[in-house]
Amino acid sequence: MIKITAAITAVGKYVPEHVLTNKMLESMVETNDEWIVSRTGIKERRILKEPGKGTSFLAIKATEDLIAKTKLDPKEIELVIVATATPDMQAASTAAFVASQIGATEAFSFDLDSACSSFLYGMSTAARYIESGKYKKVLLIGADMCSSMIDYTDRATCIIFGDGAGAVLFEPNTDGLGLQDEYLRTDGTGREFLKVAAGGSINRPSIETVNNRQHFIRQEGRVVFKFAVSNMADASEKILERNNLSKEDVTWLAPHQANKRIIEATASRMDLEMNKVMMNIHKYGNTTSATLPLLLNDYESQLKKGDTIIFAAFGGGFSWGAIYFKWAYN
Ligand code: UT7
Repeated sequence: MIKITAAITAVGKYVPEHVLTNKMLESMVETNDEWIVSRTGIKERRILKEPGKGTSFLAIKATEDLIAKTKLDPKEIELVIVATATPDMQAASTAAFVASQIGATEAFSFDLDSACSSFLYGMSTAARYIESGKYKKVLLIGADMCSSMIDYTDRATCIIFGDGAGAVLFEPNTDGLGLQDEYLRTDGTGREFLKVAAGGSINRPSIETVNNRQHFIRQEGRVVFKFAVSNMADASEKILERNNLSKEDVTWLAPHQANKRIIEATASRMDLEMNKVMMNIHKYGNTTSATLPLLLNDYESQLKKGDTIIFAAFGGGFSWGAIYFKWAYN
């Protein structure tokens, strides 16, 4: 029997026009460009400013870009997954709205949230649907309007996050290209260190939660940093070992863009030269679920059929993992 693997066959992206530079942040909180660049690698990030627009707007725009590049008929899409930590609203699925707006009227859809690991887990999920042989076109979108949960008086978080979206199309492949292996993990004891405390079922919205500014994301940066470095590096190392891959076999590392120092530490553990490491954190900051598909878009012209890509991510929860992937087109 021919083995079906799940390959990415097209990508699209969108970032809002408004650029929030380090210089601008200097007038909002006590920080400076030198500190931000040296501690994170971030120079600027994009922010969605238009009132009334949310994550679905970013996701729709990224998909429109993909459709324009491929001439894909949206009616052929069978499943739309929106990986996001900032859905448009509680209870109503963002993916359902996105699917309708892009014309994917024959599809079913759902949101998938595991903080900064959402897109990585979405790749695993999309692949299972394709590998089953039942689905032929699965659209996975990583989209986050991080600015919707940022307190722009908190210098520990407002310098890091930005808004953006990337979309990828998964299709069956019979040449062994696409997703090869995955190592995914979670540890719920870490949730205290990176969270939005109120607005969920434990701490529902009230005057107090608003006055206490508990609807914004908070993190204990140093703790998260430590776990991110060790777990992202461990997962990447494990996926190499398990598949008997040496550093020479790896064409690209596509790491979650949370902090340049975390990325460098992961590459160093893999003994990988930095010219094999995809990076765009300087332009977009941490866009949560959008970092990996934005990388694929920015590096698409350099990717070749058969390239080995190791994806790696770490996020709230804690959640983390690595995926071994073979690129399917030039
Ligand atoms: O997406 C996945 C989840 N998120 C992450 O992976 C983020 C992980 N954490 C980080 O990237 C880093 O911890 C941060 C970028 C958030 C912070 O960098 P750091 O090197 O860990 O700084 P720190 O929190 O240890 O603070 C060092 C110093 C402190 O001053 P003192 O106590 O040494 O005098 C802070 O008050 O830097 C100060 N500081 C700042 N200074 C200027 C903290 N934030 C800022 C700032 N500008 N924005």
